Amino acid sequence: MEDIKSESLQEEGVSLLGDEGSPTSLNQELGNRHDSRGSKRNSLLIVLLAISVVANILLLLPRRQSLGLIHRSKYAGLVNDFELPYAWDSDRSNPNDTERNKLWYEDEEADQGIMAVDNDEAISFGLPNSQPWSWDAKVKSIYITNGHHNLHCLRNIYISIDEHERGVPQSLGRHHILHCLGALYDDIKCNADDTPRYTDKHGRKPGEGQIRKCRDWSKLKAFVNEREGCFKYIKHDKEDIRIIERMKYCSNNSPYLPKIRKYFGFSSDWTPWPYVEQDTYLTKEHPS
Ligand SMILES: *[C@@H]1O[C@H](CO)[C@@H](O)[C@H](O)[C@H]1NC(C)=O
Repeated sequence: MEDIKSESLQEEGVSLLGDEGSPTSLNQELGNRHDSRGSKRNSLLIVLLAISVVANILLLLPRRQSLGLIHRSKYAGLVNDFELPYAWDSDRSNPNDTERNKLWYEDEEADQGIMAVDNDEAISFGLPNSQPWSWDAKVKSIYITNGHHNLHCLRNIYISIDEHERGVPQSLGRHHILHCLGALYDDIKCNADDTPRYTDKHGRKPGEGQIRKCRDWSKLKAFVNEREGCFKYIKHDKEDIRIIERMKYCSNNSPYLPKIRKYFGFSSDWTPWPYVEQDTYLTKEHPS
């Protein structure tokens, strides 16, 4: 009886290793137990299958995260789920100067990344301290998203190139442009985008039309709008303008408008929008 038991275990051991050439004499000897061994084998297969399924899920999880399919960004919880093809030429490279300039000059997206973040939230995000936000200085601090800062930089570089092209004086300092080039360079390196763009045999327009997964910029905008910073980069060429002049562009229904009107001495019907160009502005005090 003990012998049969040990041989039966051996038989299972053999089949685990995938060797089907088990001694037939044993099968004949244990003929009446064949069915029960068959069902044992089936349960073993089910267990192995279950292990395999779990292992595959475990293997797949980190892989999907590294592909950015599940990974959520740390602050706005953004996911790379927005399909957008690479485009060799875009509206921003439109050869029509009028149409292209309109996009680069009039697009104020770069301004819109300024946020007034609750100090408690900033701490929960693990962010470094930041300067107080003028209209609620004890509660909120000013941050700008890196994405918007990048757009701001790109716009500055565009303006510089356009002014060079038109032969007019540069409105932005060279140091500002160089800062922007360096910042964008570093950001590209930091993101280390590993997407292989396909090529054709002429080597033209690699990646043209190829679908990639992006984060949805409108969701970043929504995140920023919930922390409205009220910034508009007015008079970008004026180095002596006081920053608070650029901080009064809250939405027209902002609870902070009374404070803003009071600070600037505006009448009670003043609203930030529609924007009206100012002739004068508060200037920074220069220490004598
Ligand atoms: C450029 O675009 C403007 C505005 O759409 C249009 O009026 C103008 O004719 C275009 N210029 C050329 C050269 O196509």
